[in-house]
Amino acid sequence: NDRKKGNENSKNEQLEFFRVDDRGKKLTTNQGLKMSEDEFSLKAGERGPTLMEDFHFREKLTHFDHERIPERVVHARGFAAHGEFQVYKNMEKYTKAKFLQDSSVKTPVFVRFSTVNGSRGSADSVRDARGFATKFYTEEGNYDLVGNNIPVFFIQDAIKFPDLVHAFKPEPDNEIPQASTAHDTFWDFVANNQESAHMIMWIMSDRAIPRSFRMMEGFGVHTFRLVNDDGKAHFVKFHWKPILGVHSFVWDEAHELAGRDPDFHRRDLWDAIERGDYPEYELGVQILPEEDEFKFNFDILDATKIWPEEDVPVEIIGKMTLNRNVDNFFAETEQVAFHLGHVVPGIDFTNDPLLQGRLFSYTDTQLIRLGGPNFHEIPINRPVCPFHNNQRDGYHRQTINLGKVSYHRNSLAGNTPAPVSPEEGGFATYQEKVEGRKVRARSESFKDHFSQATLFWNSMSPVEKSHITEAFVFELAHVKSDSVKQQVVDMFANVNLELARTIADNIGVNPPKSGGSNVTKSSPALSQMNTVKK
Ligand code: HEM
Repeated sequence: NDRKKGNENSKNEQLEFFRVDDRGKKLTTNQGLKMSEDEFSLKAGERGPTLMEDFHFREKLTHFDHERIPERVVHARGFAAHGEFQVYKNMEKYTKAKFLQDSSVKTPVFVRFSTVNGSRGSADSVRDARGFATKFYTEEGNYDLVGNNIPVFFIQDAIKFPDLVHAFKPEPDNEIPQASTAHDTFWDFVANNQESAHMIMWIMSDRAIPRSFRMMEGFGVHTFRLVNDDGKAHFVKFHWKPILGVHSFVWDEAHELAGRDPDFHRRDLWDAIERGDYPEYELGVQILPEEDEFKFNFDILDATKIWPEEDVPVEIIGKMTLNRNVDNFFAETEQVAFHLGHVVPGIDFTNDPLLQGRLFSYTDTQLIRLGGPNFHEIPINRPVCPFHNNQRDGYHRQTINLGKVSYHRNSLAGNTPAPVSPEEGGFATYQEKVEGRKVRARSESFKDHFSQATLFWNSMSPVEKSHITEAFVFELAHVKSDSVKQQVVDMFANVNLELARTIADNIGVNPPKSGGSNVTKSSPALSQMNTVKK
Protein backbone atom coordinates (compact mmCIF):
# COMPACT_ATOMS: atom_id res chain seq x y z
CA ASN A 1 0.00 0.00 0.00
CA ASP A 2 2.81 2.36 0.83
CA ARG A 3 4.28 1.66 -2.55
CA LYS A 4 0.98 2.39 -4.29
CA LYS A 5 0.39 5.61 -2.41
CA GLY A 6 3.96 6.72 -2.83
CA ASN A 7 4.05 6.06 -6.50
CA GLU A 8 0.99 8.05 -7.41
CA ASN A 9 2.35 11.38 -6.23
CA SER A 10 6.01 10.58 -6.08
CA LYS A 11 7.17 12.64 -9.06
CA ASN A 12 5.17 15.63 -7.96
CA GLU A 13 6.60 15.40 -4.44
CA GLN A 14 10.10 15.12 -5.83
CA LEU A 15 9.61 18.19 -8.04
CA GLU A 16 8.16 20.11 -5.09
CA PHE A 17 11.59 20.05 -3.50
CA PHE A 18 13.05 21.99 -6.44
CA ARG A 19 10.32 24.59 -6.86
CA VAL A 20 11.25 28.19 -6.07
CA ASP A 21 8.69 30.93 -5.57
CA ASP A 22 10.30 34.36 -6.07
CA ARG A 23 7.07 36.29 -5.56
CA GLY A 24 7.11 38.82 -2.74
CA LYS A 25 10.76 38.13 -1.94
CA LYS A 26 13.52 40.74 -1.69
CA LEU A 27 15.89 40.69 -4.65
CA THR A 28 19.29 39.16 -3.96
CA THR A 29 22.38 38.16 -5.91
CA ASN A 30 22.98 34.46 -6.58
CA GLN A 31 24.94 34.46 -3.34
CA GLY A 32 21.94 35.63 -1.35
CA LEU A 33 23.11 39.23 -0.86
CA LYS A 34 20.13 41.61 -0.73
CA MET A 35 20.65 44.36 -3.31
CA SER A 36 19.39 47.85 -2.72
CA GLU A 37 19.45 48.88 -6.40
CA ASP A 38 18.84 46.92 -9.61
CA GLU A 39 18.31 49.61 -12.20
CA PHE A 40 21.61 51.41 -12.48
CA SER A 41 25.10 50.03 -12.92
CA LEU A 42 27.95 51.25 -10.71
CA LYS A 43 29.71 54.19 -12.42
CA ALA A 44 32.70 56.40 -11.88
CA GLY A 45 30.75 59.63 -11.63
CA GLU A 46 27.12 60.07 -12.65
CA ARG A 47 28.00 60.21 -16.36
CA GLY A 48 31.15 58.10 -16.15
CA PRO A 49 32.06 54.56 -17.30
CA THR A 50 30.72 51.43 -15.61
CA LEU A 51 33.13 49.99 -13.10
CA MET A 52 34.65 46.52 -13.27
CA GLU A 53 33.91 46.34 -9.57
CA ASP A 54 30.15 46.03 -10.27
CA PHE A 55 29.75 42.37 -9.32
CA HIS A 56 25.98 42.63 -9.47
CA PHE A 57 26.02 43.98 -13.03
CA ARG A 58 28.49 41.30 -14.12
CA GLU A 59 26.55 38.46 -12.51
CA LYS A 60 23.26 39.62 -14.02
CA LEU A 61 24.63 40.10 -17.53
CA THR A 62 26.77 36.99 -17.50
CA HIS A 63 23.83 34.81 -16.54
CA PHE A 64 21.71 36.38 -19.24
CA ASP A 65 24.45 35.90 -21.82
CA HIS A 66 24.40 32.16 -21.12
CA GLU A 67 20.65 31.57 -20.93
CA ARG A 68 20.29 29.70 -24.21
CA ILE A 69 21.07 26.04 -24.76
CA PRO A 70 21.05 24.37 -28.19
CA GLU A 71 17.62 23.39 -29.40
CA ARG A 72 17.08 19.70 -30.15
CA VAL A 73 18.64 18.73 -33.48
CA VAL A 74 15.20 17.36 -34.42
CA HIS A 75 11.88 17.75 -32.58
CA ALA A 76 13.01 21.21 -31.43
CA ARG A 77 9.51 22.59 -31.04
CA GLY A 78 7.58 20.74 -28.38
CA PHE A 79 5.05 21.02 -25.62
CA ALA A 80 4.70 18.81 -22.57
CA ALA A 81 2.47 17.92 -19.65
CA HIS A 82 2.45 15.72 -16.56
CA GLY A 83 0.03 12.90 -15.94
CA GLU A 84 -0.40 9.34 -14.80
CA PHE A 85 -0.70 5.91 -16.33
CA GLN A 86 -2.67 2.97 -15.04
CA VAL A 87 -2.68 -0.49 -16.54
CA TYR A 88 -6.13 -2.10 -16.93
CA LYS A 89 -5.05 -5.69 -16.45
CA ASN A 90 -2.10 -7.73 -15.34
CA MET A 91 0.32 -8.27 -18.23
CA GLU A 92 2.59 -10.65 -16.31
CA LYS A 93 1.98 -13.35 -18.90
CA TYR A 94 4.08 -11.23 -21.27
CA THR A 95 6.23 -8.91 -19.18
CA LYS A 96 7.80 -8.65 -15.77
CA ALA A 97 7.57 -4.83 -15.95
CA LYS A 98 5.81 -4.04 -12.67
CA PHE A 99 4.04 -0.94 -13.96
CA LEU A 100 2.27 -3.19 -16.48
CA GLN A 101 1.08 -5.63 -13.82
CA ASP A 102 -0.67 -3.95 -10.93
CA SER A 103 -3.83 -2.10 -11.97
CA SER A 104 -3.94 -0.21 -8.66
CA VAL A 105 -0.62 1.54 -9.31
CA LYS A 106 -0.72 4.98 -10.87
CA THR A 107 2.61 5.58 -12.56
CA PRO A 108 3.57 9.27 -12.98
CA VAL A 109 4.31 10.22 -16.60
CA PHE A 110 5.68 13.21 -18.47
CA VAL A 111 4.74 13.51 -22.15
CA ARG A 112 6.32 15.79 -24.73
CA PHE A 113 4.63 16.30 -28.10
CA SER A 114 6.61 17.90 -30.89
CA THR A 115 6.98 18.66 -34.55
CA VAL A 116 10.09 17.21 -36.17
CA ASN A 117 11.62 19.63 -38.65
CA GLY A 118 10.82 23.13 -37.48
CA SER A 119 12.91 25.21 -35.11
CA ARG A 120 11.74 26.08 -31.59
CA GLY A 121 9.85 29.12 -32.85
CA SER A 122 8.13 27.53 -35.84
CA ALA A 123 4.37 27.13 -36.26
CA ASP A 124 2.40 24.25 -34.78
CA SER A 125 0.08 23.39 -37.65
CA VAL A 126 2.64 22.57 -40.36
CA ARG A 127 2.66 19.34 -42.35
CA ASP A 128 5.06 17.09 -40.44
CA ALA A 129 5.21 13.99 -38.26
CA ARG A 130 4.59 14.67 -34.57
CA GLY A 131 6.69 13.29 -31.73
CA PHE A 132 4.83 11.58 -28.88
CA ALA A 133 7.42 10.85 -26.19
CA THR A 134 6.40 9.44 -22.82
CA LYS A 135 8.54 9.08 -19.72
CA PHE A 136 7.08 6.65 -17.18
CA TYR A 137 8.57 7.25 -13.72
CA THR A 138 8.22 3.66 -12.55
CA GLU A 139 9.37 2.23 -9.25
CA GLU A 140 11.93 0.19 -11.23
CA GLY A 141 13.41 3.21 -12.98
CA ASN A 142 12.41 5.44 -15.88
CA TYR A 143 10.91 3.82 -18.94
CA ASP A 144 10.76 6.01 -22.07
CA LEU A 145 8.45 5.23 -24.97
CA VAL A 146 9.78 7.66 -27.59
CA GLY A 147 7.26 7.49 -30.40
CA ASN A 148 5.66 9.41 -33.23
CA ASN A 149 2.07 9.91 -34.38
CA ILE A 150 2.77 7.87 -37.52
CA PRO A 151 3.37 4.11 -37.21
CA VAL A 152 6.24 3.82 -39.70
CA PHE A 153 9.41 5.73 -40.47
CA PHE A 154 11.20 7.18 -43.52
CA ILE A 155 14.29 4.99 -43.39
CA GLN A 156 15.25 1.49 -42.32
CA ASP A 157 18.78 1.99 -41.03
CA ALA A 158 19.94 4.62 -38.53
CA ILE A 159 23.07 5.38 -40.54
CA LYS A 160 20.80 7.31 -42.95
CA PHE A 161 19.28 9.53 -40.26
CA PRO A 162 21.74 12.42 -40.69
CA ASP A 163 21.08 12.33 -44.46
CA LEU A 164 17.34 12.32 -43.93
CA VAL A 165 17.46 15.27 -41.56
CA HIS A 166 19.92 17.24 -43.69
CA ALA A 167 17.50 16.86 -46.61
CA PHE A 168 14.31 17.63 -44.67
CA LYS A 169 15.42 20.58 -42.56
CA PRO A 170 15.56 24.07 -44.12
CA GLU A 171 18.08 24.12 -46.96
CA PRO A 172 21.57 25.08 -45.80
CA ASP A 173 22.28 27.98 -48.16
CA ASN A 174 19.34 30.19 -47.19
CA GLU A 175 17.60 28.30 -44.35
CA ILE A 176 14.33 28.19 -46.32
CA PRO A 177 11.71 26.81 -45.85
CA GLN A 178 11.39 27.02 -42.08
CA ALA A 179 9.14 24.01 -41.55
CA SER A 180 7.68 22.44 -44.64
CA THR A 181 8.07 19.54 -47.02
CA ALA A 182 7.74 21.89 -50.00
CA HIS A 183 11.35 22.04 -51.13
CA ASP A 184 13.83 20.37 -53.45
CA THR A 185 16.09 18.55 -51.00
CA PHE A 186 13.11 16.92 -49.25
CA TRP A 187 11.77 15.42 -52.47
CA ASP A 188 15.20 14.65 -53.87
CA PHE A 189 15.86 12.54 -50.78
CA VAL A 190 12.50 10.81 -51.13
CA ALA A 191 13.00 9.92 -54.79
CA ASN A 192 16.50 8.62 -54.15
CA ASN A 193 15.65 6.71 -50.99
CA GLN A 194 12.54 4.83 -51.97
CA GLU A 195 12.15 3.05 -48.65
CA SER A 196 10.50 6.35 -47.65
CA ALA A 197 7.42 5.65 -49.88
CA HIS A 198 5.16 4.31 -47.15
CA MET A 199 5.96 7.08 -44.64
CA ILE A 200 5.54 9.73 -47.34
CA MET A 201 2.00 8.50 -48.00
CA TRP A 202 1.23 9.11 -44.31
CA ILE A 203 3.00 12.49 -44.41
CA MET A 204 0.93 13.60 -47.40
CA SER A 205 -2.23 12.44 -45.61
CA ASP A 206 -4.25 14.39 -43.04
CA ARG A 207 -2.41 12.51 -40.27
CA ALA A 208 0.43 15.00 -40.73
CA ILE A 209 -1.80 17.98 -39.86
CA PRO A 210 -3.38 16.86 -36.57
CA ARG A 211 -6.22 18.94 -35.12
CA SER A 212 -4.83 18.69 -31.59
CA PHE A 213 -2.25 16.81 -29.56
CA ARG A 214 -5.30 15.46 -27.73
CA MET A 215 -6.56 13.85 -30.93
CA MET A 216 -3.42 12.10 -32.11
CA GLU A 217 -2.39 8.48 -32.01
CA GLY A 218 1.11 7.55 -30.90
CA PHE A 219 3.26 4.65 -32.03
CA GLY A 220 6.49 3.16 -30.73
CA VAL A 221 7.16 2.35 -34.43
CA HIS A 222 9.81 -0.30 -33.81
CA THR A 223 9.29 -3.89 -32.85
CA PHE A 224 10.27 -4.21 -29.20
CA ARG A 225 10.31 -7.21 -26.88
CA LEU A 226 8.34 -8.05 -23.77
CA VAL A 227 9.98 -10.59 -21.47
CA ASN A 228 8.21 -12.35 -18.60
CA ASP A 229 9.51 -13.79 -15.33
CA ASP A 230 10.19 -17.15 -16.96
CA GLY A 231 12.41 -15.46 -19.52
CA LYS A 232 9.89 -16.05 -22.32
CA ALA A 233 9.79 -13.24 -24.88
CA HIS A 234 7.17 -11.87 -27.26
CA PHE A 235 7.56 -9.23 -29.93
CA VAL A 236 5.51 -6.11 -29.33
CA LYS A 237 4.44 -2.90 -31.06
CA PHE A 238 3.14 -0.07 -28.86
CA HIS A 239 0.19 2.18 -29.70
CA TRP A 240 -1.43 5.18 -28.01
CA LYS A 241 -5.11 5.70 -28.92
CA PRO A 242 -6.65 9.07 -27.97
CA ILE A 243 -10.02 8.76 -26.23
CA LEU A 244 -11.22 11.77 -28.26
CA GLY A 245 -10.49 9.92 -31.50
CA VAL A 246 -8.15 10.93 -34.31
CA HIS A 247 -8.92 14.27 -35.94
CA SER A 248 -7.09 16.41 -38.44
CA PHE A 249 -7.23 19.87 -39.93
CA VAL A 250 -7.98 20.37 -43.56
CA TRP A 251 -5.05 21.95 -45.33
CA ASP A 252 -6.58 25.45 -45.55
CA GLU A 253 -7.22 25.53 -41.81
CA ALA A 254 -3.68 24.37 -41.07
CA HIS A 255 -2.29 27.07 -43.34
CA GLU A 256 -4.38 29.83 -41.90
CA LEU A 257 -3.56 28.83 -38.33
CA ALA A 258 0.15 28.83 -39.03
CA GLY A 259 -0.25 32.59 -39.48
CA ARG A 260 -3.16 33.39 -37.21
CA ASP A 261 -2.07 31.33 -34.19
CA PRO A 262 1.28 29.59 -34.58
CA ASP A 263 0.87 28.30 -30.99
CA PHE A 264 -2.46 26.63 -31.66
CA HIS A 265 -1.49 23.13 -30.51
CA ARG A 266 0.32 24.19 -27.37
CA ARG A 267 -2.46 26.59 -26.42
CA ASP A 268 -5.07 23.88 -27.03
CA LEU A 269 -3.28 21.40 -24.75
CA TRP A 270 -2.52 23.95 -22.04
CA ASP A 271 -6.09 25.30 -21.98
CA ALA A 272 -7.67 21.83 -21.93
CA ILE A 273 -5.60 20.86 -18.89
CA GLU A 274 -6.23 24.18 -17.14
CA ARG A 275 -9.99 23.74 -17.46
CA GLY A 276 -9.82 20.14 -16.20
CA ASP A 277 -10.60 18.59 -19.58
CA TYR A 278 -7.76 16.12 -19.24
CA PRO A 279 -6.46 14.46 -22.43
CA GLU A 280 -6.59 10.67 -22.23
CA TYR A 281 -4.92 7.99 -24.33
CA GLU A 282 -5.25 4.25 -24.09
CA LEU A 283 -2.14 2.12 -24.42
CA GLY A 284 -2.45 -0.69 -26.93
CA VAL A 285 -0.09 -3.54 -27.75
CA GLN A 286 0.22 -5.81 -30.73
CA ILE A 287 1.85 -8.96 -29.43
CA LEU A 288 3.51 -11.60 -31.56
CA PRO A 289 4.97 -14.89 -30.35
CA GLU A 290 8.64 -15.29 -31.24
CA GLU A 291 7.73 -18.36 -33.30
CA ASP A 292 5.80 -16.08 -35.69
CA GLU A 293 8.78 -13.87 -36.52
CA PHE A 294 8.85 -15.02 -40.16
CA LYS A 295 5.13 -15.41 -40.69
CA PHE A 296 4.75 -12.23 -42.70
CA ASN A 297 5.59 -11.11 -46.21
CA PHE A 298 7.60 -8.30 -44.69
CA ASP A 299 10.31 -8.21 -42.07
CA ILE A 300 9.06 -7.32 -38.60
CA LEU A 301 12.42 -5.61 -37.97
CA ASP A 302 11.73 -3.14 -40.81
CA ALA A 303 10.47 0.17 -39.37
CA THR A 304 8.86 1.14 -42.68
CA LYS A 305 6.22 -1.56 -42.11
CA ILE A 306 3.15 -1.84 -39.90
CA TRP A 307 1.73 -5.08 -38.59
CA PRO A 308 -1.76 -5.05 -40.11
CA GLU A 309 -4.28 -4.94 -37.28
CA GLU A 310 -6.46 -7.55 -39.00
CA ASP A 311 -3.59 -10.01 -38.58
CA VAL A 312 -2.33 -8.87 -35.18
CA PRO A 313 -5.09 -7.06 -33.27
CA VAL A 314 -4.28 -4.18 -30.94
CA GLU A 315 -5.04 -5.16 -27.36
CA ILE A 316 -5.88 -2.19 -25.13
CA ILE A 317 -4.08 -2.58 -21.80
CA GLY A 318 -4.13 0.74 -19.95
CA LYS A 319 -4.84 4.44 -19.90
CA MET A 320 -2.79 7.61 -19.57
CA THR A 321 -4.31 10.88 -18.37
CA LEU A 322 -2.51 14.21 -18.70
CA ASN A 323 -3.63 16.29 -15.74
CA ARG A 324 -1.04 18.94 -14.91
CA ASN A 325 0.69 21.64 -16.89
CA VAL A 326 4.35 22.32 -16.31
CA ASP A 327 5.46 25.02 -13.87
CA ASN A 328 8.34 26.13 -16.04
CA PHE A 329 8.81 25.45 -19.75
CA PHE A 330 12.60 25.49 -19.74
CA ALA A 331 13.11 23.47 -16.55
CA GLU A 332 10.75 20.73 -17.63
CA THR A 333 9.81 20.70 -21.33
CA GLU A 334 13.16 21.89 -22.63
CA GLN A 335 15.40 19.93 -20.25
CA VAL A 336 13.62 16.61 -20.41
CA ALA A 337 15.80 13.91 -21.97
CA PHE A 338 14.09 10.92 -23.54
CA HIS A 339 16.00 7.86 -24.67
CA LEU A 340 14.95 4.45 -25.99
CA GLY A 341 17.63 2.90 -23.83
CA HIS A 342 15.70 3.89 -20.69
CA VAL A 343 14.02 0.52 -20.10
CA VAL A 344 12.83 -1.49 -17.12
CA PRO A 345 13.07 -5.26 -16.59
CA GLY A 346 10.54 -6.93 -18.88
CA ILE A 347 11.00 -4.57 -21.85
CA ASP A 348 13.82 -5.13 -24.32
CA PHE A 349 14.98 -4.33 -27.84
CA THR A 350 15.14 -6.12 -31.16
CA ASN A 351 17.65 -5.96 -33.99
CA ASP A 352 15.66 -3.38 -35.97
CA PRO A 353 18.61 -1.40 -37.40
CA LEU A 354 16.80 1.90 -36.90
CA LEU A 355 16.13 1.10 -33.25
CA GLN A 356 19.72 -0.03 -32.74
CA GLY A 357 21.07 3.33 -33.99
CA ARG A 358 18.61 5.35 -31.95
CA LEU A 359 20.00 3.62 -28.87
CA PHE A 360 23.22 5.51 -29.55
CA SER A 361 21.94 8.89 -30.70
CA TYR A 362 19.80 10.25 -27.86
CA THR A 363 22.27 10.26 -24.97
CA ASP A 364 24.96 11.38 -27.35
CA THR A 365 23.04 14.50 -28.40
CA GLN A 366 21.87 15.21 -24.84
CA LEU A 367 25.48 15.30 -23.64
CA ILE A 368 25.94 18.50 -25.60
CA ARG A 369 22.38 19.80 -25.42
CA LEU A 370 22.23 19.53 -21.64
CA GLY A 371 25.87 20.26 -20.95
CA GLY A 372 27.69 17.17 -19.74
CA PRO A 373 27.13 13.77 -18.21
CA ASN A 374 24.97 14.66 -15.21
CA PHE A 375 21.70 15.62 -16.90
CA HIS A 376 20.00 12.63 -15.31
CA GLU A 377 20.13 14.70 -12.10
CA ILE A 378 18.01 17.52 -13.54
CA PRO A 379 14.68 17.37 -11.67
CA ILE A 380 12.52 16.38 -14.63
CA ASN A 381 14.88 13.55 -15.56
CA ARG A 382 15.35 12.00 -12.11
CA PRO A 383 13.77 8.63 -11.54
CA VAL A 384 11.43 8.42 -8.55
CA CYS A 385 13.31 5.39 -7.26
CA PRO A 386 16.79 5.83 -5.80
CA PHE A 387 19.77 5.44 -8.11
CA HIS A 388 23.21 4.28 -7.06
CA ASN A 389 26.29 3.52 -9.10
CA ASN A 390 29.97 4.30 -9.28
CA GLN A 391 29.66 7.26 -11.61
CA ARG A 392 31.20 10.39 -10.10
CA ASP A 393 32.07 13.99 -10.87
CA GLY A 394 31.60 15.81 -14.19
CA TYR A 395 30.10 19.22 -14.90
CA HIS A 396 27.15 20.24 -12.73
CA ARG A 397 27.25 17.24 -10.40
CA GLN A 398 24.54 17.72 -7.77
CA THR A 399 24.79 14.73 -5.47
CA ILE A 400 27.32 14.49 -2.64
CA ASN A 401 28.30 10.84 -2.80
CA LEU A 402 29.61 9.57 0.52
CA GLY A 403 32.53 7.23 1.14
CA LYS A 404 35.64 6.34 -0.80
CA VAL A 405 34.43 3.55 -3.01
CA SER A 406 33.45 4.30 -6.60
CA TYR A 407 34.53 1.13 -8.33
CA HIS A 408 33.37 -2.39 -8.96
CA ARG A 409 34.15 -5.03 -7.77
CA ASN A 410 34.93 -4.07 -4.19
CA SER A 411 34.79 -5.51 -0.71
CA LEU A 412 34.36 -2.20 1.14
CA ALA A 413 30.98 -0.86 0.05
CA GLY A 414 28.83 -3.81 -0.92
CA ASN A 415 27.21 -1.84 -3.75
CA THR A 416 26.81 -4.84 -5.99
CA PRO A 417 24.60 -5.38 -9.04
CA ALA A 418 21.10 -6.73 -8.27
CA PRO A 419 20.40 -10.36 -9.19
CA VAL A 420 17.71 -11.11 -11.78
CA SER A 421 14.70 -12.05 -9.69
CA PRO A 422 11.25 -10.58 -9.08
CA GLU A 423 12.34 -9.46 -5.58
CA GLU A 424 15.73 -8.01 -6.56
CA GLY A 425 14.69 -6.67 -9.97
CA GLY A 426 18.03 -6.75 -11.80
CA PHE A 427 17.88 -6.15 -15.55
CA ALA A 428 19.48 -8.71 -17.83
CA THR A 429 19.50 -8.40 -21.59
CA TYR A 430 17.32 -10.97 -23.34
CA GLN A 431 19.60 -13.71 -24.61
CA GLU A 432 18.67 -13.65 -28.24
CA LYS A 433 20.71 -15.92 -30.46
CA VAL A 434 22.58 -14.03 -33.18
CA GLU A 435 24.84 -15.36 -35.87
CA GLY A 436 26.13 -14.47 -39.33
CA ARG A 437 28.87 -12.66 -41.17
CA LYS A 438 29.58 -8.99 -40.62
CA VAL A 439 28.09 -7.19 -43.61
CA ARG A 440 27.28 -3.61 -44.52
CA ALA A 441 24.09 -4.30 -46.45
CA ARG A 442 20.31 -4.25 -46.51
CA SER A 443 18.62 -7.59 -45.87
CA GLU A 444 16.68 -8.98 -48.83
CA SER A 445 13.66 -9.03 -46.54
CA PHE A 446 13.79 -5.21 -46.32
CA LYS A 447 13.61 -4.60 -50.06
CA ASP A 448 9.89 -4.22 -50.71
CA HIS A 449 9.21 -0.49 -50.45
CA PHE A 450 5.80 -0.13 -52.04
CA SER A 451 3.33 -2.81 -51.00
CA GLN A 452 2.32 -1.26 -47.71
CA ALA A 453 2.27 2.21 -49.28
CA THR A 454 -0.27 0.81 -51.75
CA LEU A 455 -2.26 -0.82 -48.93
CA PHE A 456 -2.37 2.56 -47.22
CA TRP A 457 -3.61 4.29 -50.39
CA ASN A 458 -6.22 1.57 -51.00
CA SER A 459 -7.54 1.91 -47.47
CA MET A 460 -8.28 5.63 -47.90
CA SER A 461 -11.77 7.05 -48.56
CA PRO A 462 -12.29 9.17 -51.71
CA VAL A 463 -12.03 12.38 -49.66
CA GLU A 464 -8.81 11.22 -48.00
CA LYS A 465 -7.40 10.27 -51.40
CA SER A 466 -8.17 13.70 -52.77
CA HIS A 467 -6.45 15.32 -49.76
CA ILE A 468 -3.36 13.18 -50.33
CA THR A 469 -3.29 14.02 -54.03
CA GLU A 470 -3.70 17.73 -53.32
CA ALA A 471 -0.92 17.59 -50.75
CA PHE A 472 1.50 16.01 -53.25
CA VAL A 473 0.57 18.65 -55.84
CA PHE A 474 0.92 21.54 -53.40
CA GLU A 475 4.25 20.40 -52.01
CA LEU A 476 5.79 19.41 -55.34
CA ALA A 477 4.66 22.61 -57.01
CA HIS A 478 7.23 24.39 -54.81
CA VAL A 479 10.08 22.18 -56.04
CA LYS A 480 12.33 23.98 -58.54
CA SER A 481 14.00 20.99 -60.17
CA ASP A 482 11.90 19.35 -62.91
CA SER A 483 14.09 16.29 -62.70
CA VAL A 484 13.26 15.83 -59.01
CA LYS A 485 9.54 16.27 -59.73
CA GLN A 486 9.70 13.67 -62.47
CA GLN A 487 11.56 11.19 -60.27
CA VAL A 488 8.92 11.57 -57.57
CA VAL A 489 6.07 11.02 -60.02
CA ASP A 490 7.80 7.93 -61.43
CA MET A 491 8.41 6.63 -57.93
CA PHE A 492 4.81 6.98 -56.75
CA ALA A 493 3.54 5.20 -59.85
CA ASN A 494 4.66 2.15 -57.88
CA VAL A 495 2.13 3.03 -55.22
CA ASN A 496 -0.75 3.95 -57.52
CA LEU A 497 -0.59 4.84 -61.18
CA GLU A 498 -3.65 7.06 -61.11
CA LEU A 499 -2.24 9.05 -58.18
CA ALA A 500 1.05 9.54 -60.02
CA ARG A 501 -0.70 10.57 -63.25
CA THR A 502 -2.83 13.16 -61.47
CA ILE A 503 0.21 14.61 -59.72
CA ALA A 504 2.10 14.74 -63.04
CA ASP A 505 -0.80 16.52 -64.77
CA ASN A 506 -0.93 19.16 -62.06
CA ILE A 507 2.77 19.91 -61.73
CA GLY A 508 3.65 19.96 -65.41
CA VAL A 509 5.90 16.91 -65.78
CA ASN A 510 5.57 13.85 -68.00
CA PRO A 511 3.11 11.15 -67.03
CA PRO A 512 4.82 8.25 -65.30
CA LYS A 513 5.74 5.21 -67.28
CA SER A 514 3.30 2.49 -66.38
CA GLY A 515 3.98 0.94 -62.96
CA GLY A 516 6.98 3.16 -62.33
CA SER A 517 10.36 3.15 -64.02
CA ASN A 518 13.71 2.74 -62.38
CA VAL A 519 12.34 1.54 -59.09
CA THR A 520 12.02 -1.58 -57.00
CA LYS A 521 8.81 -3.40 -57.88
CA SER A 522 6.28 -4.28 -55.24
CA SER A 523 6.07 -7.86 -54.20
CA PRO A 524 2.92 -9.30 -55.81
CA ALA A 525 2.33 -11.38 -52.69
CA LEU A 526 1.72 -8.17 -50.77
CA SER A 527 -0.36 -6.32 -53.29
CA GLN A 528 -3.64 -6.76 -51.44
CA MET A 529 -4.57 -7.00 -47.77
CA ASN A 530 -3.12 -10.50 -47.62
CA THR A 531 -0.03 -9.94 -45.52
CA VAL A 532 0.24 -13.20 -43.62
CA LYS A 533 2.11 -15.94 -45.41
CA LYS A 534 -0.17 -18.85 -46.14
C1 HEM B 1 14.28 13.39 -30.79
C2 HEM B 1 17.61 10.95 -33.24
C3 HEM B 1 14.22 8.23 -35.26
C4 HEM B 1 11.06 10.09 -32.19
C5 HEM B 1 15.46 13.01 -31.33
C6 HEM B 1 16.70 13.64 -31.07
C7 HEM B 1 17.64 12.94 -31.75
C8 HEM B 1 17.00 11.88 -32.46
C9 HEM B 1 19.14 13.20 -31.79
C10 HEM B 1 16.92 14.84 -30.17
C11 HEM B 1 16.92 14.36 -28.76
C12 HEM B 1 17.26 15.41 -27.75
O1 HEM B 1 17.93 16.40 -28.06
O2 HEM B 1 16.87 15.22 -26.58
C13 HEM B 1 16.97 9.98 -33.97
C14 HEM B 1 17.62 9.02 -34.82
C15 HEM B 1 16.65 8.28 -35.41
C16 HEM B 1 15.41 8.76 -34.92
C17 HEM B 1 19.11 8.88 -35.00
C18 HEM B 1 16.74 7.16 -36.39
C19 HEM B 1 17.86 6.55 -36.67
C20 HEM B 1 13.07 8.45 -34.58
C21 HEM B 1 11.88 7.68 -34.70
C22 HEM B 1 11.00 8.20 -33.82
C23 HEM B 1 11.63 9.32 -33.16
C24 HEM B 1 11.69 6.45 -35.59
C25 HEM B 1 9.63 7.74 -33.50
C26 HEM B 1 9.34 6.48 -33.33
C27 HEM B 1 11.66 11.14 -31.57
C28 HEM B 1 10.99 12.01 -30.64
C29 HEM B 1 11.91 12.96 -30.25
C30 HEM B 1 13.13 12.66 -30.94
C31 HEM B 1 9.56 11.89 -30.19
C32 HEM B 1 11.66 14.13 -29.34
C33 HEM B 1 11.85 13.73 -27.92
C34 HEM B 1 11.48 14.88 -27.04
O3 HEM B 1 10.29 15.28 -27.06
O4 HEM B 1 12.36 15.42 -26.34
N1 HEM B 1 15.65 11.95 -32.19
N2 HEM B 1 15.64 9.79 -34.03
N3 HEM B 1 12.90 9.44 -33.63
N4 HEM B 1 12.95 11.55 -31.72
FE1 HEM B 1 14.29 10.65 -32.84
